[in-house]
Amino acid sequence: MTDTTATPVTAAATVDALRGENIVKRFGAVTALDGVNIRLGQGEILGILGDNGAGKSTLMKILTGFHPQTSGKLFVHGEQTELRSVDHARALGIECVYQDLALANSLSIYHNMFLNREIVHRGPLRLLNNRAMRLRAAECLEDIGVHVPSVDLPVEQLSGGQRQAIAVARAVNSNARILLLDEPLAAMGAREAGLIIDLIMRLKKKGNLSIAMIMHNYAQTLDIADRIMLMQRGRVTYERDSASTSVAELMDIVRREYREMRTGTR
Ligand SMILES: Nc1ncnc2c1ncn2[C@@H]1O[C@H](COP(=O)(O)OP(=O)(O)O)[C@@H](O)[C@H]1O
Ligand SMILES: [Mg+2]
Repeated sequence: MTDTTATPVTAAATVDALRGENIVKRFGAVTALDGVNIRLGQGEILGILGDNGAGKSTLMKILTGFHPQTSGKLFVHGEQTELRSVDHARALGIECVYQDLALANSLSIYHNMFLNREIVHRGPLRLLNNRAMRLRAAECLEDIGVHVPSVDLPVEQLSGGQRQAIAVARAVNSNARILLLDEPLAAMGAREAGLIIDLIMRLKKKGNLSIAMIMHNYAQTLDIADRIMLMQRGRVTYERDSASTSVAELMDIVRREYREMRTGTR
C-alpha cells in the first residue's frame, strides 16, 4: 500500500542535530583525528565503530566540549559553534556519558541523578532539598522505564547495567537533546546489555533526542543504530544506513585493514 499522506519536510526536520566538518585533533606529534566528517540527524541513532586508538573517544570529547579541535567546524542544530567547555555544550543540550560513568558510588541513586545540579531549598543556606530530588529521580526513572528497588540505594549496590542506566537517566534528566554514549555496553553480559538497549530504544521512541554511541559489537550496533560509521586511524572510512550493510561486510573491511597492516602494505 502506498502512503499518499506524505508529511511535508520542514526546514527544521532537515537540520542535523550535530555536524562536524573536517575535524582534526592533534596531541603533540599524534594526530588522533585526521579530517573527520560526522553528522547526527534529528532523532537519529548513530553507531560509531572502530579499533582501539581509532579516535572515537577523542571525537566524542570534542563533540562534548571537553577538548577543543585543532581545526574544523562544528554545527549544533545547524549553527556553527565553538564549544568552549563541557558546561557550554551542556547548556546547548549536549550530554555525554563517558566510559567511567563518573558516578559517586557511595551516594544514593537520587543524589547521583542530581550530582552537581542539586535541588536546594530557597534561602541563604542552600540546603539540599532531598525530598524533591528523591521524587524527581523516581519520576524520571519511571518515565524512561528504569526499575530499581529504591532510589535511596547507594549506586555501589547496583549491577553494571543498572549503573549505566542511572548514568544515562542522569544525562537525559537534564533536558538533553543530544546524547553521546562512550561504549555503553562495554563489559556487560547479554542480559544487562539488553536492558540498556531497551532503554536506548525507549528514549528514541520518546523522540526529541539524537544519540551517537561508540560501540564494540557489530551485531548489536546494526540492531540499534539507524546508521553506522567506521573509524580507522583517525578517519571515517565507511558510513552506511544500518539496513544496507551487514556484520559480514564490516568484518571484511576490518580484516582487510588488518592484513594490510601485517603485510606492511600500509
Ligand atoms: N589526551 C591525550 N593525549 C595524547 N594522546 C591522546 C590523548 N587522547 C587520545 N590520544 C591518542 O589519540 C589516539 C586516539 O585515541 P582515542 O580517541 O582514545 O581512540 P579510541 O577511543 O578509538 O580507542 C590514540 O593514539 C591515543 O593514544
Ligand atoms: Mg575509546
